[in-house]
Amino acid sequence: MHESTAQALPSPSASVPVTREVVLEAAGITKSYRRGMWPRRRAVSVLKGADITLGHGEVVGLVGENGSGKSTLMQILVGALRADRGTVVSSGRIGYCPQEPVLYDRLTCDEHLELFGVAYGMDPAAVAGAADALYATLGFGDWRTTRAEELSGGTAAKLNLSLALLADPDILLLDEPYAGFDWDTYQRFWALTAERRVTGRSVLVISHFVTDEERFDRIVELRDGRTVLR
Ligand SMILES: Nc1ncnc2c1ncn2[C@@H]1O[C@H](COP(=O)(O)OP(=O)(O)O)[C@@H](O)[C@H]1O
Ligand SMILES: [Mg+2]
Repeated sequence: MHESTAQALPSPSASVPVTREVVLEAAGITKSYRRGMWPRRRAVSVLKGADITLGHGEVVGLVGENGSGKSTLMQILVGALRADRGTVVSSGRIGYCPQEPVLYDRLTCDEHLELFGVAYGMDPAAVAGAADALYATLGFGDWRTTRAEELSGGTAAKLNLSLALLADPDILLLDEPYAGFDWDTYQRFWALTAERRVTGRSVLVISHFVTDEERFDRIVELRDGRTVLR
């Protein structure tokens, strides 16, 4: 993964219990964005030394108000965005589900899964098997040959999640994955997450609301650019 200069040690409050192996660790992450136009351009500091760790087989929630920097932090964790300062170290394959589905309008669900399978270096039989399982688990097999531009928001969200799950990643990073899900899909999502946890996979879930606290091993809150344990 990516790594930059260490700035701070992780705060104990946001760390995994010492009994678990750490699979993802970010420390002292800072990030500011430029806002406005010249001559009123200014830097707005979003992350001010955020730390987060994820342990083997852990399900962690990342919460915080709208605009608190949750998506920014997750993009830094996956390497889609560069931190100004801080370090990110991870081990194992990462699957990432962005907040806004990144889909190709003209491609069908099947074609998306095939395309991502190639990108992950999977063989076609493995892709077909994983795709069948995902269609069944998330219940959207009827849309296999439907183009992305014709999918409902909820079905697009299922496809988005499936693309992150396809290669069975060790670390799954999900940015508000169930915002568009109905109740049934929400339940299926948690069943799937619980299954992964049992097999030692790790999951970090961003949510702007947490109604089911008991489903998480830990909940970390982003507040004023830093992470605190809830
Ligand atoms: N590319 C960007 N350029 C400028 N400002 C941004 C950009 N992305 C996010 N922001 C701002 O950074 C803050 C944090 O955004 P974000 O990480 O999306 O928060 P959250 O996911 O917690 O809602 C918000 O104020 C947002 O407007
Ligand atoms: Mg967000």
